[in-house]
Amino acid sequence: MIDLRTPWQIGPVEIPTRLVLAPMAGVSVQAFRRQGRRYGAGLVCSEMVSCAGIEHGNERTLGYLRVAADEHPLAIQLFGSEPRTLANAAKMVEAVGADIVDLNFGCPVRKVTRTGAGATLLEDSALACSIVESVARAVDLPVTVKLRRGLHNGSRVCLELGPRLVEAGAASLTLHPRSAQQMYTGTADHGLTAELVSLVDVPVVASGDVTSRARAQAVLATTGAEAVMVGRGAQGNPWALEEIVDGETSAPSREEVAAELVLFIREAVRELGERRASSFLKKFYGWYLGQGRFPRAFKQELVQLESTEEVERRLLAAAPGAIEILERLEAEIPSGDEVTLELPISVYGGG
Ligand SMILES: Cc1cc2nc3c(=O)[nH]c(=O)nc-3n(C[C@H](O)[C@H](O)[C@H](O)COP(=O)(O)O)c2cc1C
Repeated sequence: MIDLRTPWQIGPVEIPTRLVLAPMAGVSVQAFRRQGRRYGAGLVCSEMVSCAGIEHGNERTLGYLRVAADEHPLAIQLFGSEPRTLANAAKMVEAVGADIVDLNFGCPVRKVTRTGAGATLLEDSALACSIVESVARAVDLPVTVKLRRGLHNGSRVCLELGPRLVEAGAASLTLHPRSAQQMYTGTADHGLTAELVSLVDVPVVASGDVTSRARAQAVLATTGAEAVMVGRGAQGNPWALEEIVDGETSAPSREEVAAELVLFIREAVRELGERRASSFLKKFYGWYLGQGRFPRAFKQELVQLESTEEVERRLLAAAPGAIEILERLEAEIPSGDEVTLELPISVYGGG
């Protein structure tokens, strides 16, 4: 049994557990990342941030570069296709206090790939390496890359590209071993992760289909990866992180679920403002209240409500014991940055 509480490092950055919370566009807001850290993620990552948006000083894009004190260690992920623009954006990432600059070479969404960014870079190793070199030269932070197996089904291009990226200066690689063509269908082929581990001398993080402690253990043992990354399994379910890291198996009570959701709502509102948060949060209601914890009709009711305050009222009425848990949580957790920030809800989706 591998102890997921064994620290490891990316360059000089010490990471306390072997679980990394995945970057997810439209999901990985600060509230999500801070919660992930509380439940055992050793490293959290922002969703992908456009380097062009940073270059143009786009206010919304800059909002993504916000780092809270209790998030560290934190990676901020950039996407783009132009080495100089990415290098400049990486300097911003360094200036705002992130610990790691991560580069997205895996996003399969057309809006991104047609600009030469994301997964397109898997097939242009010269450009991909020149991006890593130029970003690594620009900052003192470790530079990491998140990639897919290749563009097309069956591709093994990640095995050629990975070692070259390391030569170019990548301090760690995360592999999501699906093709861009697959999007999120089929399964992640962690046989490729094992091959990549054998080819490089930097830590490799295994991403894809890790949803339980048993799966995490199996992936770590069979691939030799340094850590596992968890994405969809953590959506509305921070308890999955705890189970993966510590083997705690008891399902959370209704009250615990309601308390964490209300806290998440409050933090999201502070971060995004009421208008944005209320649409951003709708998908989270289904995620949190799934798995038989609340009746389906209740979930549908929440989605219809106009204000997050109303949602909060309904949740606390349905699980009054949550109030006490919520008070305890709020007393324990350092309050987030009090300044309300208008963050965009990204329409892009993935890596
Ligand atoms: C909604 C969503 C958004 C995502 N956004 C990103 C992203 O911004 N950057 C990235 O590298 N990967 C992104 N991914 C991919 C995840 O980081 C992860 O590699 C993938 O979901 C496989 O892991 P899982 O099976 O644990 O979800 C996204 C995935 C989802 C489901």
